[in-house]
Amino acid sequence: MTSHPPTSPRDTTHGSSRERQSRYSHTVRPLSYDLYMLSPQPGEDPMETVELLEEREEAAAPDPVIAERNRRIADALLATTSNYTESEIEFDVIAEQNGISVEEARAKHRCIELTEDGGVQITLSDEHAWINFPYWDSLDPKHLADEIATASQLIALPTGWQLYDPQLEKFIDPARDANEFAEAFGVGVAHVQRIAAERSSADTGVMSHEDYLLANQPTELERLRLQSLVWEPTGRELLSKLGGGSGGRALDVGCGAMGWLRILSDWVGASGQVVGADIDENMLNAARSFLEEDEITNVELVVDDLFESKLEPHSFDLVHARYQIAPLGRGSEQVASHRRLVKPGGSLVLEEWDLASWHFNPPAPAAERLIRLLSEIFAGLGGEAGRGLRELLRDVGVEEPEIDAHVIALKPGHPYLRLPLQFSVALEARLLEAVSEDELASLRNEAEAELAEAGRWGTTFTLIQGWGRLGG
Ligand SMILES: C[S@@+](CC[C@H](N)C(=O)[O-])C[C@H]1O[C@@H](n2cnc3c(N)ncnc32)[C@H](O)[C@@H]1O
Repeated sequence: MTSHPPTSPRDTTHGSSRERQSRYSHTVRPLSYDLYMLSPQPGEDPMETVELLEEREEAAAPDPVIAERNRRIADALLATTSNYTESEIEFDVIAEQNGISVEEARAKHRCIELTEDGGVQITLSDEHAWINFPYWDSLDPKHLADEIATASQLIALPTGWQLYDPQLEKFIDPARDANEFAEAFGVGVAHVQRIAAERSSADTGVMSHEDYLLANQPTELERLRLQSLVWEPTGRELLSKLGGGSGGRALDVGCGAMGWLRILSDWVGASGQVVGADIDENMLNAARSFLEEDEITNVELVVDDLFESKLEPHSFDLVHARYQIAPLGRGSEQVASHRRLVKPGGSLVLEEWDLASWHFNPPAPAAERLIRLLSEIFAGLGGEAGRGLRELLRDVGVEEPEIDAHVIALKPGHPYLRLPLQFSVALEARLLEAVSEDELASLRNEAEAELAEAGRWGTTFTLIQGWGRLGG
């Protein structure tokens, strides 16, 4: 079944379109934080459970006992001190859109929708509830945590349902363990707050460097943060192969909004030092807020153009650069610049992509066409830079470069599945050189719909890692 994302993040219309949008919204709406309440089914992915429940509910006849129970929950929520209002569901619109009678629409779509004036929205269905809140406005995590805890407890009492957080991929229980809930919820809220802050700073920020292909894109900060989280385990794995870094000095060139800063901070430990360098001050501001939140104190952030670096030559035990060659496309120059910063005996680590494994299953023709168009843009720059890493490392004196490759399977609903769409915003001007505005708009709509379809999973591009030690 296909669902369509809201046309605007502030879309609060109700009725069938809104309700259908909510079905797989966690997979397609980057602008809301979604939680579900349901009975866990042993061995079943909770997101699959939600989808199965929705289908089952739609097919079943209305049950007056359940309707009465949901009414009581809604009344209890309406009676709490917070300001909930009940949405009027437009059954006539649902009927018209689905070609059924109003009575049939009433029977099939029998949820209750409540909206709280802080933005929390609750949809009560027969066998599950959906709780969500937008994060494009400034958020008050304390208010949200209280609101969600109260609401979920009111819902849990008569239903026995548990609160599931698809962002954290776990059940959280505010009633049983207040600390764990606060911590888990805090992680999620901090994450969305960072994104909201980055968006607004990027919206008003002045970019320092115009040549960077993906520069000046609000979505770029969000993408880089997510990307860093996705690839952290592979970075840690590589660092473990290099041996101990404790007390060392490490540099992440073009660190972006996060890059390798966190894992390098762990690698060098409290007695070591990490430098995160980037040409773009907005990126560094985003990185700074993340470092503060995580209370990481051994990282220094500096504005530096890698092509005219002011960093001290031969002063780092490890220099790392990821996804720099593909968008900048000056591989030899770039690697020579990194090489100058490595101490004798130190390591140079490069990570770049090879796009060949970037697929969806079942195939998603529009999203895959976007990938092909993006590949053509990158082909004119650094291309599939990962494939050339060994050669580049040899050219700067690493005799036998080490090499590794990783592909990550992305489960249905994983936010990194949306990467082609995020790139399509960041690279819009370039894409419009190849396709018309209308064609791009319909490709995006179709790709959104494809990614919203239940069960579609994917594989990332291949991350190629090349590294080695450098002599004097
Ligand atoms: C594709 S992003 C990768 C960010 C980060 N390495 C990661 O993997 O998440 C490229 C980064 O390089 C930065 N950059 C672009 N041109 C640069 C230059 N000449 N010197 C230093 N950084 C640059 C951009 O601002 C951006 O943060």
